[in-house]
Amino acid sequence: MKVIETNTEVSRILTVGQCARQLEIENATPFLMLHRGVNAVVNIDINEIARSLDFNSDDIQVYPGTAGKEKLRNAISDSYFEGVADSDNILIIPGGISGLDLTFQSLQVDAIALPQFFWGSYGQLAKLRKLSVNTYPTLQTLVKYPHKYTNQLVVICDPGNPLGEKNHDDDILNAVERLYEENITVLFDSPYRKVFYDQKENFYARLIQHPNVVVVDSFSKSMGLSGQRIGFMHSVNSMFVSAAKQRLLYASNGVNAFAQELVYTLLTTTEGCQAVSNFRKKTRTDIAKNIDFLINNGLLSTEYYRNSKPLGIFASINRTEEELLANKISAVSMAYFTLEPEKHHNHSRICVSVPHKFFKKYFEPLV
Ligand SMILES: Cc1ncc(COP(=O)(O)O)c(C=O)c1O
Repeated sequence: MKVIETNTEVSRILTVGQCARQLEIENATPFLMLHRGVNAVVNIDINEIARSLDFNSDDIQVYPGTAGKEKLRNAISDSYFEGVADSDNILIIPGGISGLDLTFQSLQVDAIALPQFFWGSYGQLAKLRKLSVNTYPTLQTLVKYPHKYTNQLVVICDPGNPLGEKNHDDDILNAVERLYEENITVLFDSPYRKVFYDQKENFYARLIQHPNVVVVDSFSKSMGLSGQRIGFMHSVNSMFVSAAKQRLLYASNGVNAFAQELVYTLLTTTEGCQAVSNFRKKTRTDIAKNIDFLINNGLLSTEYYRNSKPLGIFASINRTEEELLANKISAVSMAYFTLEPEKHHNHSRICVSVPHKFFKKYFEPLV
């Protein structure tokens, strides 16, 4: 058998996790797992909602269609885009990662332009699709020097992974507008946003007024449904949507019908909206306490935040991966999130979306 190599590497997030689990066994003591990117303050409570679904219906037992169920695409238009998105411009995808890959495959670009600190999987996906990677320091750089990114796909992730930094919405829209003037495509991949922007908002509707934007989003983080593998993508460019849809057809023939029915119910029923809202509220409360704990105890890598507080589910702290592991905390060195690893070994990304009482217990010995 001759195999075509992927030239990708296993993510550091996975290897750190394996190492921490091994140490747990060897030391017979639990570790605080902060290497992952999942909300773990609470699970979303979906038992009642799942029970209300009719499993013996065609809704669940029959192919859901490549683009995804029309009613779900309309519900997404209503809850994300104030109803202004055409459901034909929305595809239901098996998680955000597949939307990123579909986008990388479907666009003719020379490179992917990522934020200075970026989620490693963007880089690995670029390798998989034989695209090179470039970085941009700030949104302001995009506005000032857009020509540096000609023929590139600019990725905006906000709040960011790994830093959890939040740009002003107007600065995002401003950058998107400037890049549009220069005919540069933007991939808006911000799966953590809705955890914090829970109320009705017009941001996504304003974003898609710019025809150069592809939105990739997911219910993994914003609804705690990473196990269901479901998300969506949107573009007003019909050629792009059609190309992505063909690739989706031959990659997966659509997305699990149960996951679609579940998300539809969560978006459109009173009980569903309540379950999502409870999950987000509890998640936000403990995240805020954890971030304040880091700030108050001098643990936050302040140099990365330019006087702003992190907002997302991640933060960078001024301790090494090894020191944290020695204190039974799994984390990923910031060196793995940049093209300049040597400068950032002394900092680590942690997931701050865990119950505050555990967070405090594990971090107190480090203070
Ligand atoms: C920035 C970012 N985008 C996209 C994803 C993809 O998540 P999923 O495929 O579960 O939707 C992740 C997951 O960690 C992420 O951190």
